[in-house]
Amino acid sequence: MPEPGAAWPPAPIRTGRLVLRESEPRDRAAFIELFASPDVGTYIGGPKPRDELERTTAELPGRRPGLFVVDLGGALIGMITLDPHDTDAAKTELGYLFLPEAWGHGYASEACTAALGWFAGANPGEKVALCTQTANAPSMRLAAKLGFTEVKRFEAYGAEQWLGVWSQQNARQP
Ligand SMILES: CC(C)(COP(=O)(O)OP(=O)(O)OC[C@H]1O[C@@H](n2cnc3c(N)ncnc32)[C@H](O)[C@@H]1OP(=O)(O)O)[C@@H](O)C(=O)NCCC(=O)NCCS
Repeated sequence: MPEPGAAWPPAPIRTGRLVLRESEPRDRAAFIELFASPDVGTYIGGPKPRDELERTTAELPGRRPGLFVVDLGGALIGMITLDPHDTDAAKTELGYLFLPEAWGHGYASEACTAALGWFAGANPGEKVALCTQTANAPSMRLAAKLGFTEVKRFEAYGAEQWLGVWSQQNARQP
């Protein structure tokens, strides 16, 4: 976020089906699952070994400015990040990771729409960047649904990457 901590943490954000909130100790197993999942890791550098994650994951993982746990019925189904970004496109970058069993229900678009809406309210006029592999079709579809528009494509980590930018004016409903 442009000024980390300035508006953090917000009160939990409720959508039709989800709650965006800070992490809690009860989220630890789901965090490990998220980073150990080969499906989640396909386009983001691969999964991490589960035993390493069990050893190194904090008792309260993910408690930092810009990180929302996405909660469905009291359990973590994914996470959204708003982190500093260093191209001319924007000063903040959106990231999203959801557990495979939560894919295909519109949860990611519902949660990201809420996170972007909160961000725009807390940081009026600020743009948000998004970087994803072009081969990551679900992520490319999500970016388009959220209203991100292409800035450029480039090669990195042995794959074509897509940099997009979002502003409140071109936000779209999922
Ligand atoms: C990227 C990612 C979050 C997308 O998840 P997703 O569930 O496909 O995204 P959405 O929330 O937009 O859901 C869209 C799907 O839900 C379906 N859907 C079902 N019910 C829906 C509803 N009520 N509202 C909206 N969509 C709904 C849509 O038809 C669509 O299905 P389709 O993919 O078959 O077309 C997910 O694939 C993921 O976590 N990947 C691993 C991490 C990753 O690569 N992150 C990107 C890093 S840059």
